[in-house]
Parts: sequence; structure tokens; C-alpha cells
Amino acid sequence: MSVDKTSQPIKPLRIAVLVSGSGSNLQVLIDAMQAGALPIEIVGVISNREDAYALTRAKDANIPVAVLSHVASGKRMGIKTFEAHANEQLVAWQPDLIVLAGFMRVLSGSFIDNAPAPMINLHPSLLPVYKGLDTHQRVLQAGDRYHGCSIHKVTAELDAGQVLTQAVLSVDINDTAESLQSRVQKLEHKLLPWTILLLAKSVLSLEAESTSQANQYLPTLPLQLFITS
Ligand code: GRF
Repeated sequence: MSVDKTSQPIKPLRIAVLVSGSGSNLQVLIDAMQAGALPIEIVGVISNREDAYALTRAKDANIPVAVLSHVASGKRMGIKTFEAHANEQLVAWQPDLIVLAGFMRVLSGSFIDNAPAPMINLHPSLLPVYKGLDTHQRVLQAGDRYHGCSIHKVTAELDAGQVLTQAVLSVDINDTAESLQSRVQKLEHKLLPWTILLLAKSVLSLEAESTSQANQYLPTLPLQLFITS
């Protein structure tokens, strides 16, 4: 259990992480947890792909995993079946927060509403612009000067829940979709632990629409971060 500056022990925030791919964001959380830099406990990782490298990262850190592959024995697992198994697993882990970190399956409103904890998602654009896929390409096509990533509350409407935090970069004249993806991902690796720290310390809350909005002395959401490297 970590201790804050007032010597008050902080109860670790129990986090379940849903993944589909490499899991570099999961790794950042694992590293921060192991270093004692974040008051969290990752209670489990669910992947909808059995070949996701994120699973190796979780297993190496002795974190329980559940593989709910969207294709089993050549058959596609329907979203309802996936959600029933995922809900059962999440209820067993009793998380305080569910983090979608590169999770590529669209979840139903009833799954989200009945989940045992609120959910946040990491999205590679400055929401509300560029919901959905191919965000880097779309930013380039539009000739935007700024791009970045957002962490938002998950609601039934895709990528449309309250945006909590964003990290912003300037698009360079030489940027390609690949370079933007890599630069945005570096921002994600800062934004995710920073946001989770704010949630763990109750600076941000997911229960009401937004607690910090209720305080006239605090900035309105989303909180934006310009990160210089
Ligand atoms: C992230 O770049 C995120 O923006 C997108 O999927 C990627 C996941 O990366 N939705 P990783 O699996 O955490 O490495």
C-alpha cells in the first residue's frame, strides 16, 4: 500500500484491463505498479485474442489472465457470449475500474451498464473528432495542425463518453500515419498512468458526470496535457 504526502495510506485502485494487441499501455501500468509509482493493483487482464502479446506481459507479471478469443475452434464467438463470460470474470475480480487499453471489440450498452465497475477507454484522437478507426490517416487527410489521444468514460455510444484527459502534439509536415501512430502512442504511455493517478486520488471521478466540474476553482474537462520529450 502506498503512502501519500500526508502519510495517509492510499488503498490501491483495483484495475482490470481489456486488451487485444501488443499491450504496451498495459506494460506501462505494470511497470508503474511494480515501481510503486501508481497506487493500483492490476487484478486481471482479459484479451479477446489468444495471440495478443499483452497476455505474455500479464503472465510475466503474474497477473491473472482470461482469454475470451473471438474465434474459437474456427467459430466466431458472438458478442453476447463474449460479454457473458467477460462479465462473470470481472465480477470475480471485483475491480474498482475497468481500463480498455487497445481493446478492439465494440461492447454493448447493457454490458457497459451492468459491468461491476466504471470503464475508461484510451482513444488515439482528440475526441470528439475522429471517433472510430484510422484516426492518424484522417488527421493527415484533413491537414490538422494538432493531434493526440484521449481518455474517456465508456458509454453505449462509441467513443462518445465524457472525455477526461487528453495529450496533444503538433503535426509535423513530414509526419506519416505511421510516425503519428508512434508519436501518439508515446503520449498514451504518459496519459494513461497520469489519468489513473488522478482517478486513484479522486481528483477525477467517474461516478457523477464529473466531480472536478462541480468545483468552480478547477479547470473544466477534459484536462489537456502538452508533453515535451
Ligand atoms: C493504442 O495505440 C490505442 O490508441 C489503440 O490501440 C493501441 C493499443 O496499443 N486503440 P497497445 O496494445 O497498448 O500497445
